[in-house]
Amino acid sequence: MYKSEQLAHSLKQLIENSTWRAHEKLPSLRQQAEQSGLSLITVMNAYQELEAQGLIYSKAKSGYFVAEQHSTRLNPVLAINDKIEINSIVFKYLKSLQSEFIIPLGSAFPNSQLLYSPKLIQSLGQLARQRRSYEQTPSLPPGNYALRKIIAQRYAMQGIPTDPSDIVITSGGLDALNLSLQALTQTGDYILLQQTIFYGAWQAAERLGLKVITIPEHPEHGIDLAAFEQAILKYPIKVCLLMLNSHNPIGFTVSDEIKLKIAKLLNQYQIYLIEDDVYEELYYDQKKPLSMKYFDQQNWVLHCSSFSKTLGAGFRIGWVYAGKFSENIQHIQLMSTLSVNPFIQNALVEYLSHRHYEKHLKTLRSTLQRYKKQYFNYFKSHLPEQCKTIYYPSGYFLWIELPEYMDSELIYQQLLQHNISVAPSNLFNITNQQNHFIRINCSFEMNEKIQNALDKLIEIVKININQ
Ligand SMILES: Cc1ncc(COP(=O)(O)O)c(C=O)c1O
Repeated sequence: MYKSEQLAHSLKQLIENSTWRAHEKLPSLRQQAEQSGLSLITVMNAYQELEAQGLIYSKAKSGYFVAEQHSTRLNPVLAINDKIEINSIVFKYLKSLQSEFIIPLGSAFPNSQLLYSPKLIQSLGQLARQRRSYEQTPSLPPGNYALRKIIAQRYAMQGIPTDPSDIVITSGGLDALNLSLQALTQTGDYILLQQTIFYGAWQAAERLGLKVITIPEHPEHGIDLAAFEQAILKYPIKVCLLMLNSHNPIGFTVSDEIKLKIAKLLNQYQIYLIEDDVYEELYYDQKKPLSMKYFDQQNWVLHCSSFSKTLGAGFRIGWVYAGKFSENIQHIQLMSTLSVNPFIQNALVEYLSHRHYEKHLKTLRSTLQRYKKQYFNYFKSHLPEQCKTIYYPSGYFLWIELPEYMDSELIYQQLLQHNISVAPSNLFNITNQQNHFIRINCSFEMNEKIQNALDKLIEIVKININQ
């Protein structure tokens, strides 16, 4: 860790454990430099990082102050949703993104200019000319052995002992989530979701006819552990589907302490967890966050991920760490998609067998971090003060909180008229209570076109605030 990161980390702890309270003044840069023995520039970098994370704010000529904790705490009661109807909303939204003229600030896909690594394209070109690349038999479920071996090795590098037979290759992360949920549930079963979550999880629950209990987000920890325990005590929950790293859409990453507690609860109450971890590689810290699989001693966790956010969603390659459910999942695959594209599986083996991927990830992370900070700073200085831009140091989404009386669906509709998309919160939360958030994709370079789109967004927000 750099010295500025170490300082930011220890100051963050003082804020999180309430040693420093909201609106309390921080030591000046100079005082902090004297106290810590660090240079002024190191202290300034640490303060800027905390500011970018929304933990502190600055006032001209007065210094830095502790910010209010994020108000992402939603309705702190459990909600039961036994008839989910989100698919048609998502369908309309995804269709609206398809025009080639749209500026895709609402897209879930990262900017393709940053993906589709040239070395991978080179491997694709070479393999395209070899007939054996298309042979289907070696790629049938559970998928290409060499690819599963590489994925297993990546788990092992994180301290998660894994055998290639634990892994099933799927058509992207969404397929991994759907197959896992289908393997573990039957129509009418209770599952648990976070109240605000990637719409694919809601769609899967709708498709399978499941009853969904939701727990609210926690403003500091991301997940509300008390609500989690309350939910599993009150309802016969069979499976939880959670995102704990670089949460989509909000962005938080849950601490190891909380992950460990969740793992203990899963074991105690014998509940399966499907972990959606498709953003696992897009952390900005020095260290990759641990997945729930790391804390899972008794095989309650099915870990789902993909290459969509790092190499390209167009490849449609994901996987699930299925463990003992591998065969069950393969049965479902053989009745539906059959095999995942063999040619792409072969090309990924070729690409991942070298060090290209790590280099690519390093560049991708630092570019996304740079872009996201630029967007954050732009919103911070241009959005009206009634709005709050919520920043977490990972991924490529910003989550903007508008005044509570505003409807982000309306903002979305108005921006569409200008060929700009944003993602309104009703895509992620079906309770009809949290309609005043929007998700912004920050993976596009801040050129004139993007800046004009951000200006239009800001203008429309201001008009709606003043109405
Ligand atoms: C949280 C989350 N999970 C899963 C997926 C699906 O990933 P894939 O494109 O690999 O199917 C997405 C895609 O946007 C996502 O945001």
